[in-house]
This record gives sequence, structure tokens and C-alpha cells, in this order.
Amino acid sequence: MALEEKYGAHNYHPLPVVLERGKGVRVWDPEGKRYYDFLSAYSAVNQGHCHPRIIDALTEQATKLTLTSRAFYSSKLGECEQNITSYFGYEKVLMMNSGAEAVETAIKLARRWGYVKKGIQDQKATIIVADENFHGRTTGIISFSTDPSATSNFGPYMSGYISVPHNDLEALERQLCNPDVCAFLVEPIQGEAGIKLPAVGYLSKAYALCKQYNVLFVADEIQTGIARTGKLLACDFDAVRPDVLILGKALSGGVLPVSAVLADDEIMLTIKPGEHGSTFGGNPLACAVAMAALAVVADERLADNAQAMGELFRQGLTLLQGKFSGIIGAVRGQGLLNAVEIVDQPDGRTAWDLCVELKDMGLLAKPTHGHIIRFAPPLVITAEEMEESLGIIERALEKFSAG
Ligand SMILES: Cc1ncc(COP(=O)(O)O)c(C=O)c1O
Repeated sequence: MALEEKYGAHNYHPLPVVLERGKGVRVWDPEGKRYYDFLSAYSAVNQGHCHPRIIDALTEQATKLTLTSRAFYSSKLGECEQNITSYFGYEKVLMMNSGAEAVETAIKLARRWGYVKKGIQDQKATIIVADENFHGRTTGIISFSTDPSATSNFGPYMSGYISVPHNDLEALERQLCNPDVCAFLVEPIQGEAGIKLPAVGYLSKAYALCKQYNVLFVADEIQTGIARTGKLLACDFDAVRPDVLILGKALSGGVLPVSAVLADDEIMLTIKPGEHGSTFGGNPLACAVAMAALAVVADERLADNAQAMGELFRQGLTLLQGKFSGIIGAVRGQGLLNAVEIVDQPDGRTAWDLCVELKDMGLLAKPTHGHIIRFAPPLVITAEEMEESLGIIERALEKFSAG
């Protein structure tokens, strides 16, 4: 911790715990203390830490070939592209590394489509986003953030974005009428905003409006996708097939940065050779890992488990809410993407202090926006482990309520 403090940039404020090893839903510190991981690296480790099938794929490929760049074909990329497109039901995929890069890619794709297919006048393409969005940290992406801590003193910002309230169809339609709009970019559930779920039917109605105005519906499922919410994609709850789908995080099971943008030919083929790319995007190691990571999600039926364990978790939490009504303000979530609002205590203690208490008792979770704790364990968690975790949360709440 001291080394990170002295030599690392101070762009994060970690909980005071050092992790050395992980397996499944658990992680260990260097002294051998064991914790349940209820963050899963912000939903990247859906398949559990160091899943043997994914690690086998990684090590096998690592001894063969790791990087070719896209100057040449690799023996893995085509296979992986076929695998991912059939898995999610799209004609094409474009692989990148970080989530933010995939979002940038989707933005370029949407703008390009807007110019060459929709006929928007040069430099006019506009993208609608939602207030309180979180899509990453690049200068382009923060240009449409409404969070001052993401934006302030990082300007000048890029133009071409309009932000509307999340879950507000009228506000969306007012902007969709603008003929310069090429896309609506949205998180189906707003993750960093504090697990904000829109009304049932919002996504399907928003999608229908996009079709009415010839605008692309672009879903950022970097955090919500790959079984986290109890279906393969959060958009599946509303039976929406996005025109452009953005994935990251759990696409590698937390092993490597692997992200992807999926779309059909009409959209994807508007980008021609030399117009977009990445040295590492679609590298053989990433391909081997992504195929294994997706196979684990299907073979272990992780979406079903996320759905069942999410129900169990929220039932348990709702009971605790009755018992600790002065501490737990609200409980919400879908599948294993859950949030609990913590009431600030009269003595000044907050969600952060409760997270420290949870850590001391063996469960790791992180506050967001000061008063919300996100609970998102790996999707391989069993009912027994979930009951044990709820027991830890109850004991931590008892201690917290005692002051
Ligand atoms: C919805 C969403 N989009 C994009 C990102 C950015 O991904 P990355 O941190 O890999 O750049 C995140 C990260 O938390 C996210 O939750």
C-alpha cells in the first residue's frame, strides 16, 4: 500500500486490503486471510477468479503465439470472430482491448454510418446519451459525462453529444427528431451511477423510437453483459437486439483486457481498411481467452445462476433492511448486479465505513457515490456461499449499528 501511495498516481482510492491470490468467488491477502469478492473487478470476473478452463486456454496459447498485429492473419482471430458473432447473433465483430476503446469504436462506427448511410451532413453527426452515464475515461467519452469528477479541468470537450435523462422516453423522442442524430448510446442498467434500472419496457420503446427516426440503438453492455444480470445481455429482458452491441470486462473472464463491438454488415462494413484499429485488438491470446470465457458462461449456465443467486441475495438483503432500517435505505438490482443504499449515520459514518467493516469480516465490496454499495460477486457463487455471505453482511451491519 505504501509503495502504491509513493510511486503510483493517486487516481484511485482503494479499500485498505492487498490481494495476492484468487480462486472462484474468493480472494486472499498476503497474510492468508480469505475474502468473498463481491465486486468481481467491476463485473469483469463473472466466471470466477482464475477459472481453470480460461487459464488453460491462456497458457496454451501463450506458449504458441501472443501477438501478430493485424498486419497479418492469425490462426485464432477468424475462429474467435465466428465464435463471438454466432454466440451473440451478429454478422460482424470488431475486437479491441479496454471497454473505453470499444465505446470509442462504437462512436466512430455510428458516426460513419450516419454520414454514409443516413446522409448526415459532414461534421454534424450527433449522438444522444443518458444523464449520469458511465462509458469510460477517454477525452472523447468524458465529453458527454454529466459527472463533474470525470470532467472538471479535463476540457476542452468534444461536441456532437446531447444528454437526456435516463428512463425518459419523451425527452429521448424530442432529441431523436433532430435529423443529425445518428445514434442513441445507453447502458441498459446504469452501473456506475449506482445500478439504476429503467422501467420495464423502456429499452424496447426506446429501440422502437430509434427505428422510427432511423437512429442506431447502441447498447453499452460492458458491465451488464455476459450473464451478469441473469440473462446473457441485460437488453434480453426487454427483447431488444441492439444495432451495435459493446462488450468488455467478462469477455475475458478478467484475464486480459478484451473488448468487442458487434454489428451487422450494413453498419460494420462502413469502416474500411486503415480507418480504425489497434495493435493488440483481436490478438491470438485475447481470442483464445475470449472463446474459453464465453464457453464457460454457456456450459456452466451462469446466467441462470446469476438470476437465482440474485433473487436469494435480494431476499436476504430485504430482510436485513427490515432489521437495520436506519442503515439500509434501498435495495435494488437485477441478477447479480445489485446496489444497497446506505443511510449516512448521524455520527458521520458512511458506506465506506461499512465496507471497511465488511472487509474485516471477510467480504469485499466498494462504495460508489458515497452512499451506495455495489454487491456483484462472481456468477459461480453457490447458494451456500451466498448464505454465508449474507451472514457476514448481517454481522457487519450489527457491528456498524452498534457504532
Ligand atoms: C458501462 C461501462 N462502459 C465502459 C466502461 C469502461 O471500461 P474500461 O474500464 O475497460 O475502459 C465501464 C467500466 O466500468 C463500464 O461500466
